[in-house]
Amino acid sequence: MADILKTKIRLVPFQAHHLSDASRLSQQAGWPHTADDWALILTASRGVAAMVDDQLVGTALCADFGKVVTLNMIIVDATMRGQGLGRRLMGAVIDIAGPREMRLIATADGLPLYEKLGFRVTGLIVQHQGIALANVPECRVTIGGAADLDRCAAMDLAANGTRRHALLGRIAAHGTVLLCGDGFALVRPFGHGHVIGPVVARRRAEARALISAAATRCAGAFTRIDLPASHGLSDHAAACGLTLAGGGTAMVRNPLPADAGDTTTFALVSQALG
Ligand SMILES: CC(C)(COP(=O)(O)OP(=O)(O)OC[C@H]1O[C@@H](n2cnc3c(N)ncnc32)[C@H](O)[C@@H]1OP(=O)(O)O)[C@@H](O)C(=O)NCCC(=O)NCCS
Repeated sequence: MADILKTKIRLVPFQAHHLSDASRLSQQAGWPHTADDWALILTASRGVAAMVDDQLVGTALCADFGKVVTLNMIIVDATMRGQGLGRRLMGAVIDIAGPREMRLIATADGLPLYEKLGFRVTGLIVQHQGIALANVPECRVTIGGAADLDRCAAMDLAANGTRRHALLGRIAAHGTVLLCGDGFALVRPFGHGHVIGPVVARRRAEARALISAAATRCAGAFTRIDLPASHGLSDHAAACGLTLAGGGTAMVRNPLPADAGDTTTFALVSQALG
């Protein structure tokens, strides 16, 4: 059956009408994304949907952040894996990316394919989640708003080279902006609860305070945060009720020379968007 279907697979531009089937596909892969979470990703991305007749059997998106893109939501229906569709989807989004720096967070399933396509490992991401606990911030944290977004986007650009003012604005419009010294964090609804991210700051103490304040806002609710393991905030996330639940491997293809910015990304927007 799968061989017959393989010959009939068409790749078409991913569009809004694919969202509800795409969220079913991601749930089949064990991911929590709702159609709204997909919709947020789609505001920054374009990509392809793999179709057999009118059935969605695969997805791949490329989020455009200027000189850097993140490849995301690479999924093949469980019944269609191991037959080359993942490689075909990746080829399509690599074409969309062109010569730009491509980043992604690989699952164990995806890692061998990405290595074959020339991606190399840059670090590990740890996924923490649980029922958030109130935690007193060690430095003063205030609530921000739309007027702070230019500064937040500049700190984000300095930290990781992505131009994503528009995305941060859309997240802030549905969530909360927290500020602490030369740092900020966003909190938004995601999956079954909330997600804290990004967390960008100049100093680790500011990042810890932002995570404490965000956990306090989410106290009692299911909350997730995705942390680059190298910054050592896992223990702090656990103290805020968010325990280790998995992770991924950060990878890059065509890396640009790194600009030494004065801020650091302590938590991702998401594994999809970096
Ligand atoms: C990752 C995923 C998209 C791959 O899709 P797929 O259609 O099975 O991939 P392909 O059939 O195109 O195989 C891709 C390549 O990886 C290779 N590969 C797969 N698993 C491998 C393994 N464990 N070791 C070595 N190579 C492996 C295949 O041999 C193939 O190589 P080839 O093209 O040189 O023959 C699919 O497994 C999936 O949807 N997983 C769940 C969601 C997920 O984790 N997505 C990745 C997000 S980052």
